[in-house]
Amino acid sequence: MQDFKTKYGPWALVAGASEGLGAAFAEALAKRGLNLILLARRREKLEALAAGLRVRFSVSIRCHALDLADQVQIKTFVAQLEPDVGLLVYNAAYAPIGYFEHIPVDELLKIVDVNIKAPLLLSKLLSTRMLQKQRGGIVLMSSLAGTQGSPKIATYAASKAFNTILAEGLWKELQRHGIDVVASCAGAIRTPGYQQAITTKEAPGTLHPLQVAEQTLNALGRGPTVVPGLTNKIARFLMGRLLPRKLAISIMDNNTKDLS
Ligand SMILES: NC(=O)c1ccc[n+]([C@@H]2O[C@H](COP(=O)([O-])OP(=O)(O)OC[C@H]3O[C@@H](n4cnc5c(N)ncnc54)[C@H](OP(=O)(O)O)[C@@H]3O)[C@@H](O)[C@H]2O)c1
Repeated sequence: MQDFKTKYGPWALVAGASEGLGAAFAEALAKRGLNLILLARRREKLEALAAGLRVRFSVSIRCHALDLADQVQIKTFVAQLEPDVGLLVYNAAYAPIGYFEHIPVDELLKIVDVNIKAPLLLSKLLSTRMLQKQRGGIVLMSSLAGTQGSPKIATYAASKAFNTILAEGLWKELQRHGIDVVASCAGAIRTPGYQQAITTKEAPGTLHPLQVAEQTLNALGRGPTVVPGLTNKIARFLMGRLLPRKLAISIMDNNTKDLS
């Protein structure tokens, strides 16, 4: 715990922290003694989360309401950011469900803004600061959906593939500067977003958000990607390595057809 705080503290920034996995990352980091900067659009949810974590873990927490689809807001926020941020966790995502023909173009572009441009921008701006100190960490939340083409969530899945591949490249580049990067390729997680999307029972291997947060943070410095959960590790091996690509895409097609 102390090593983690020394390496990635004293402040961690969690982008997309108001509920679900982002709130779990905040809890797991507070438990490790890091001070927190929490970002999301709903300030009241952030403040409620922060109030509980301050009492339980005696850490400092600052909340900022910000739309991560807006690069100007992100740049302004980082320019005014004083605390020494040693860890970025980019967790937010926009994931409209529907076939490509039915998703309006503005929503498709918002996926690119929230899931690609914002993590890229925050990784760039905050790693510049980390480079000066020659230490730090970056966690990019990705998904098993990004292992292969995924009908009904095609653009979201492609955005997650971007995050995985970006993290792999940065893992190698930044390693020599003492900065650890990891992409967390998660399977199903019991978050409000996931529970709203499913119409049938949970996928096999669905994890609690705290399990994903802990396994992801534990993986920092150990390699470019982590797949939380044994079932998900097997699924990724099958879908990404063993099965013919056409078959993997067809399996995803079957898995996503009941999402709404
Ligand atoms: N849930 C799963 O089954 C699953 C599976 C694989 C991977 N993942 C990945 O895990 C991450 C978290 O998933 P989740 O299910 O917890 O997501 P979620 O329930 O949709 O929560 C996303 C968080 O991001 C924030 N957010 C979304 N859009 C934002 C924006 N434009 N500006 C600022 N904040 C924004 C939300 O807060 P506000 O609404 O308050 O802004 C919320 O705190 C995502 O990257 C997702 O791709 C999830």
